[in-house]
Amino acid sequence: MTSSLRLAVFGDPISHSLSPRIHGLFGRQLGVEVDYQAIRCGVNELPAKLAELVAGGGIGANLTLPLKQTGLRQCRQLDRAARLARAVNTLKLDEQGWLGFNTDGPGLVLDLERLGIALTDARILILGAGGATAGILAPMLAKKPACITILNRTAERAASLAERFSHLGAISGHGLNASPQAHDLLIQATSLGHSGAMPELAPDWLKPNARVYDLNYGRAHQPVADWAERHGWRVDGGLGMLVGQAALAFEIWTGQRPSFSAAMDSLGAELS
Ligand code: ATR
Repeated sequence: MTSSLRLAVFGDPISHSLSPRIHGLFGRQLGVEVDYQAIRCGVNELPAKLAELVAGGGIGANLTLPLKQTGLRQCRQLDRAARLARAVNTLKLDEQGWLGFNTDGPGLVLDLERLGIALTDARILILGAGGATAGILAPMLAKKPACITILNRTAERAASLAERFSHLGAISGHGLNASPQAHDLLIQATSLGHSGAMPELAPDWLKPNARVYDLNYGRAHQPVADWAERHGWRVDGGLGMLVGQAALAFEIWTGQRPSFSAAMDSLGAELS
């Protein structure tokens, strides 16, 4: 008898989550029967919802907004990425409780590799200094870029985030009125795509052949895509990061890494 792998993603909002489709694709790819539910959950409800998942035979979960920090407290052990990011997006049950992981940053690095965007020796500009940026800094610094420059509307937030990661490599943080030298890659990591327009960064902050990667995808990616295209930079949205972080979570749960590019092809066909 085969029993399915019981998994869930918790967050709020959650109804538009693509994770059930992505993990369904991975399961079909690897011949693993997957029962992966998207469950709405507020910060105070997380312990009870996790207990319900375990009672129903669940062995793993993903956490998304607003639960990535709260989730830390549910874990008896954290991987290095989760400790450095101070956030957790993947939980795995063992005999004694939940193990916590953060696959967001490693998922981004996988996608940048897929897209042929080099990190080693690159000058990287990151726009935004919130939780999304905290989640990607350690895996990016591990690739030994020439420097990472964080720019943020609130300068102090950029400076203190840079300070927190300064033991891992060359990194600095500034306000949007800074005038950094030209960079090879811009990572857009603010939440403005959901509400506002892209701030007018000076075009000479990026080299003419620079790449732009937006952590947002879908409709929230549009303001950044329009801005980058207006300036002639090749731009990619963050769907591949979502699939990359999911592939790494699936590997944590099953020991098998699904094919990332095959899942991207199927998902692209499904979404178009
Ligand atoms: P997340 O976890 O998604 O990173 P967050 O921690 O709330 O969310 O951070 C949101 C980021 O988007 C911050 O860098 C924020 O800038 P501030 O630190 O100055 O608030 C940035 N942001 C949001 N809306 C913005 C806007 N309209 N223009 C510029 N930056 C914006």
